[in-house]
Amino acid sequence: MYYIGVDIGGTNIKTGVVDKQGNILKKHSFPTLSSRPYQEIVQDINLAITKLLNDLGIKKEQIQAIGIGSPGSVDSKTGVIIYSNNIQWKNVSLGSELTRLTGLPTYVHNDANAAAMGEWMFGAGKGYKDIVLITIGTGIGGGVVINGDLLEGNYSAGAEIGHTRLGGKGNLCTCGRTDCFETYASATALIRMTKQAMQDNPDSKMWDYVNGDINKTGGRTAFECAKAGDSAAQKVIDEYIYYLGEGIANMANIFRPDIIILGGGVCAQGESLTKPLQKHLDKNIYAKDLLPTVQIITAKLGNDAGIIGAAALGINKHER
Ligand code: BGC
Repeated sequence: MYYIGVDIGGTNIKTGVVDKQGNILKKHSFPTLSSRPYQEIVQDINLAITKLLNDLGIKKEQIQAIGIGSPGSVDSKTGVIIYSNNIQWKNVSLGSELTRLTGLPTYVHNDANAAAMGEWMFGAGKGYKDIVLITIGTGIGGGVVINGDLLEGNYSAGAEIGHTRLGGKGNLCTCGRTDCFETYASATALIRMTKQAMQDNPDSKMWDYVNGDINKTGGRTAFECAKAGDSAAQKVIDEYIYYLGEGIANMANIFRPDIIILGGGVCAQGESLTKPLQKHLDKNIYAKDLLPTVQIITAKLGNDAGIIGAAALGINKHER
């Protein structure tokens, strides 16, 4: 028997057939085009699932359930996406719509909650009791597993750590509040800060890195140019690490988990990211001289975390 994992992102939707050990048999990705009616998106998810099953020669009867991870507040009891600041959805009955089309039980969760469950069951969190996963992408997502259970909060709307306040620059967040953690430490924020530093420093190596085209600036630009000795890039990284480090210290002090796992594309930086963050945390964590610190590690499931995580929640819910 297999599970389907669906990872809804602002740009792409990824679907995959996953076995009970967390292996992806086959996956498929298509553009979200989030401004269209959500019914069209659900239909496309259904088509993608049908295609995957046909390609693999797997019958629908061999699928136990579908798991979906979506940004925003997702009521996991009803499968309704109540609000998503990223894809601008309100009260979308994703779970029941997909069940109607596929005839399969569907479990819908917040994307970062799904990724946390995936990492806990099959990835970097395996074997730990309490973990906090911080996903760094368009926004910042949070997933908290305590004693093997997701800490979802009322209406499953908790663990929105990207919307805890940090810094005092008055940065406007897509949720309408100012100075949310994600306005300082998401990949979007890193790119914004990098572009600003490039405009302020016409001689920076960062311009060569993007071949003179600021639109090609990505999450890597400042990291790679800082490694090559560019001082403007290094300043961006120092500031980015400071804010991400502050957010991590807040999470460490609230939950004191066994481990903090970072997910998202920026994790490709490996120790260039985790080493300075660990230094920041060790300096700032509560009772630093009396208790062991909390280790910061990167997620193991990489780009597939969303699909595997969504399927993991399907497995977790369906088999309880
Ligand atoms: C949303 C979260 C989501 C995160 C990552 C945030 O902006 O509010 O619900 O988990 O982005 O996608």
